[in-house]
Amino acid sequence: MEFDFNTYVKKMVSKEDIDQYSKELENIKKKFSQGYPELCWYDMGKYVDNQELKRMIQQADDLKRISDVILIIGIGGSSMGAQATIQALSPYFRRRRPEIIFVGNDLSSEYLIDLQNYLREKDVSIHVVSKSGNTMEVITVFELFQSWMYKKYSTEEVKRRIVVTTSSYDGKLMYYATKYGYEKFHIPNVISGRYSLFTPATLFSMALADIDIISFLRGAKEGRIYLNQAGIYAMLRRIFFDHGKVIEGFAIYEPKLSKMVEWTKQLFAESEGKNEKGILPVKLIYTRDLHSLGQFIQEGNPILFESTISIMKTRTFQVEKYQETLSNINHIIEKSVCQAHLDAKCPTLLMKIEELDAYHLGELAMFFMMSAAMSSYLFHVNPFDQPGVTKYKEIVGKNLRSI
Ligand code: PA5
Repeated sequence: MEFDFNTYVKKMVSKEDIDQYSKELENIKKKFSQGYPELCWYDMGKYVDNQELKRMIQQADDLKRISDVILIIGIGGSSMGAQATIQALSPYFRRRRPEIIFVGNDLSSEYLIDLQNYLREKDVSIHVVSKSGNTMEVITVFELFQSWMYKKYSTEEVKRRIVVTTSSYDGKLMYYATKYGYEKFHIPNVISGRYSLFTPATLFSMALADIDIISFLRGAKEGRIYLNQAGIYAMLRRIFFDHGKVIEGFAIYEPKLSKMVEWTKQLFAESEGKNEKGILPVKLIYTRDLHSLGQFIQEGNPILFESTISIMKTRTFQVEKYQETLSNINHIIEKSVCQAHLDAKCPTLLMKIEELDAYHLGELAMFFMMSAAMSSYLFHVNPFDQPGVTKYKEIVGKNLRSI
């Protein structure tokens, strides 16, 4: 990866700003080598060993062979990572067999009825993911499809077609997995959803979509060399926040990264949005949003800074009119936007990945996970809990029990 935390930041960050956080940041960075259990996703290989990887790949091959469609049921951190990586690493247009469909992100009966109609003549399998094994949306949708599967297939066949990934032994998912003998994968209990990219929660779904999970994990592991840059990124975000920049626009020029930004939004918002602190992340798809939100960034309330994720090398073709490749034209626009926005008091932090493949996406994911953790520590909040989300889940549970 390459980073530019200077060209489009100039003058907006002073030496005093940096001095205020640099010592604290040094201490925070030390945490990563001190074996904290909640940082165990950083200590890779400890919880996904080669044997488990082999089992995932083997099991994915089995499901792919017998399925026209695979439903991936989950929500939040138990779904977003898979959505992000699969979108980023799949061609825009391909009739894939099996087709991967995400379910459980909402409770739209319109969607579910259309989906069941669509699946009528198809062979279907399910990967259901819930760390707690109890999340209302996920369990409701899973139970719906589980009974649908029992109507469509024999008990033995359903058993072959459902795979459960969870961590809790007393959750509803584990109950079903044990009762019906479904294949299981485990999410370590200390890893919260948004940090579960390097566990079966995401990896098994990626394998179902034919993504090279070994390269992805290698990229993530080697991405740890960017700990320093991740720290600087976290610190600059913190400084921008002190200067009233309370919104972070994650900008992309490649829409395939759209879900990746959704995952990044979740990662930062759920990690640092506590105790009335934190930066609100928003997604900016360029050049599209330059023709709409760009006006606000250029001349509206100056509460935003941008973090641009750029891809250095893409497939491309020549645009005769400009005697230039379309990819380079996209990069010229990127530079122009950074300049224009800096002139409008909106600084940009630039993160560049070499190309869009499993290895480099692994690096990028590790970079963001390290920086979200450090950024939360700089806000003095726990990056790994989500008491607000838990509260919402409890209120929903209470209201549903009283129906
Ligand atoms: O990041 C998180 O911890 C959350 O977004 C959870 O992933 C989400 O609430 C789903 O929870 P679970 O995996 O327990 O179903």
